[in-house]
Amino acid sequence: MSILKIVEYGSPILREKSKEVTKISKKIKALIQDMLETMYDANGVGLAASQVGQNLRIFVIDVSDPKGPIDPVVFINPKIIKKSGAISSYEGCLSFPKAYTTVRRYKNVMVKALDINGRPFIKEAKDGELLARAIQHEFDHLDGKLFIDHCRNRFDANNVLEKYNLPPVEEEYLIDEDFLEQEILEWEKANPEAANKEKEEIEKLENSKEE
Ligand code: NI
Repeated sequence: MSILKIVEYGSPILREKSKEVTKISKKIKALIQDMLETMYDANGVGLAASQVGQNLRIFVIDVSDPKGPIDPVVFINPKIIKKSGAISSYEGCLSFPKAYTTVRRYKNVMVKALDINGRPFIKEAKDGELLARAIQHEFDHLDGKLFIDHCRNRFDANNVLEKYNLPPVEEEYLIDEDFLEQEILEWEKANPEAANKEKEEIEKLENSKEE
């Protein structure tokens, strides 16, 4: 097993569509082990093959408590078969060192994929839990999409990217998500206290990074 180099934003491979895995060979299994090791080494909750320079439809996720035992889930040739609801999500990506911004996501997702032994499984994630957001984030990588394409505020996102010496948001990749945005705004209007608390927590996180 080895720790692989993580590709950074600006590299063309992150914008390419990844290919289906046709056979789960020894080489593929070794790649998956390396991806897991690389993800844990970087303290990430998810990693897609394109982020280590392999254009294959594979991602790994572990949303378990970092202090507890590991709980890796491997997704090969995943398909999102159901999605609903909308949520605002504060995200980063291992290909964007330190840069976080607020993005739009679905609240609930159901995904179908193959495990490392080629057996199909279905995973459901609800209520905007970390797993739901991580699945969407990693799935996007397989189609050359990045979290900043879902940003709620392009100017905020650009400020953060600039701060960490990363290229700005690419306009042609921005995703039109009026429906999600509307649903998020409605939720914020109906739950002003919770929405405010969320904003405060993000600000606190941002400020603590500056020290
Ligand atoms: Ni990512």
